[in-house]
Amino acid sequence: MQRPEHIHLNLRTTAACTILLVAFASIAHAQSADEGRFQNNCAMCHSLSEGTHRMGPSLFRIIGRTAGTISGFPSSASYIEAGRNGVVWNAEALDVFLASPPRFLGQHASPPVTNRMSILIQNAETRERIIKFLIHRQNEGGEQ
Ligand code: HEC
Repeated sequence: MQRPEHIHLNLRTTAACTILLVAFASIAHAQSADEGRFQNNCAMCHSLSEGTHRMGPSLFRIIGRTAGTISGFPSSASYIEAGRNGVVWNAEALDVFLASPPRFLGQHASPPVTNRMSILIQNAETRERIIKFLIHRQNEGGEQ
């Protein structure tokens, strides 16, 4: 028969495990919510698989890539020029870009701006979560 202190310890262990499980579950939940934002706002035009271009280019390993350099995709001239001017897709650049692609390109390429990405993401939290998802996905080495 178990002595009371063992029962106490078991209860504490169970409680600790439950807290850990809940913590992991909520991290997983937050990640899938971020992925959902990518699915809703980007995936109709962008795949994450290497070389799979939709209306927009594949975003495979987009973090750290120079703008306008996705092979097999005919990027508009402003993207290529922005890349030559040093634009690399990090979290800060993506945040400003997604808020308004034409405005961003206007800051990094000469007029007239050429741009076929017709949407923008006004909500800052949505942008942040999508960027977080892209970084996380890339760090895991995952593809879609
Ligand atoms: C309606 C279609 C569409 C949607 C939705 C869309 N994009 Fe795009 N995106 C494009 C197109 C088209 C281009 C290529 C623009 C060009 O070269 O003129 C592009 C280009 C880009 C580029 C630049 C790639 C490069 O270096 O040339 C990034 C980064 C990007 N999109 C990210 C996103 C993200 C993140 C989302 C979701 C928030 C998103 N896009 C939503 C169509 C879309």
